[in-house]
Amino acid sequence: MSDSTRVIPPGATLGILGGGQLGRMVALSARSLGYQVRVLDPDPGCAARPVVEHVLAASFDDASAYAELARHCDVVTLEIEKLSLAGLKAAARFCPVRPGWELLQIIQDKGLQKQWLSEHGFPVGTFRTAQSAVELRTALDALNTNCFIKSCKGGYDGRGQFESSSAAQADEAWSALGEQPVVIEQALTLEAELSIMVARSPSGQVAIYPPALNHHKSRVLEWSLLPGPLDPEIARRAEEIGRSLAEQLSLEGLLAVELFLIDGANGPELLVNEMAPRPHNTFHHTEVACPTSQFEQLVRAVCGLPLGSCEVLRPAAIANLLGDEGGPNAPFASALEVPGTRLFLYGKREARPGRKMGHLSAIGATPQEALARVQEAKARLSRG
Ligand SMILES: Nc1ncnc2c1ncn2[C@@H]1O[C@H](COP(=O)(O)OP(=O)(O)OP(=O)(O)O)[C@@H](O)[C@H]1O
Ligand SMILES: [Mg+2]
Repeated sequence: MSDSTRVIPPGATLGILGGGQLGRMVALSARSLGYQVRVLDPDPGCAARPVVEHVLAASFDDASAYAELARHCDVVTLEIEKLSLAGLKAAARFCPVRPGWELLQIIQDKGLQKQWLSEHGFPVGTFRTAQSAVELRTALDALNTNCFIKSCKGGYDGRGQFESSSAAQADEAWSALGEQPVVIEQALTLEAELSIMVARSPSGQVAIYPPALNHHKSRVLEWSLLPGPLDPEIARRAEEIGRSLAEQLSLEGLLAVELFLIDGANGPELLVNEMAPRPHNTFHHTEVACPTSQFEQLVRAVCGLPLGSCEVLRPAAIANLLGDEGGPNAPFASALEVPGTRLFLYGKREARPGRKMGHLSAIGATPQEALARVQEAKARLSRG
């Protein structure tokens, strides 16, 4: 049987690169399915620790640690992009690594990713890349409008970004972002932010959730709604983009695609913001809305099991709990009185400002009711 059709059955061992909240939730699903789970994370007390068999505490730069993890696993997947390509290659000598290093190489560099998207005919906003302060100034001059300047590597939750309004800010932006390669994007007027989640198994089976509608505050996700109440034509187009990306990237695992809806010259238009080859914050509601959560779907995909249904059985919303929100003294009981709500805390020991500590979810008869409920539950938490 070829590697791509071999089933890695329950009872086998799944390795996860990264033991943050996404790794923790993947591990919980894997355990429900009967898998053993081992993770690699620099922090021995990471969020996944209480729910996995073993944490290999090592730097994400340590390629030999990836091999050590893979030596004890039947398949390895990942929950973050900031990984060493040499490490992914080293792990692949021992067991399948899904998704593989080729996909990570494109995605972990925001500049390379935008270039790949544009070269492969996917719609993106106007952008430039720059390797120096001089190139940055030239790019800002050429774009001649408000811009988002983003570090090519390492940014998340809006960190590693600088919003500029003129080329005169080039030197300031270059040093604020740590004097490293950047991508410069025209600041777009967004009608809405959407995301799509697609799963593809090594044998080529594809499953796709309907698009979610996402709301950001200060560049960080505040809430997300599934299904996003969208024009059916926009939803269809979003799914088409997700499916086509999964095929062209020969995806093995999950791919989240963040999309911008803009009012284009010929009507509403979708542009790809960025991709993430892993579970995504904007699909946490699949846990309560769908027969198969995104976490279980990842396990199924990388283990070669049949993909589960992505149908939305009932609308759901999630709201993130950041920093002190949802701290130890928060009135959880009051929040959980709101009908249809659930609480997910990630077990992180330290609540730094802006750090994702957990989320609330709510189901409702309509997406709007689910959103109203999750917002009410969150408001009750902050009243504490
Ligand atoms: N070109 C743009 N025009 C308008 N808004 C933008 C643009 N780029 C980014 N944003 C806003 O900033 C948010 C974060 O941007 P982006 O997704 O690129 O950063 P990130 O740090 O990778 O975020 P995350 O890790 O949370 O996905 C977007 O969701 C959007 O709200
Ligand atoms: Mg983003």
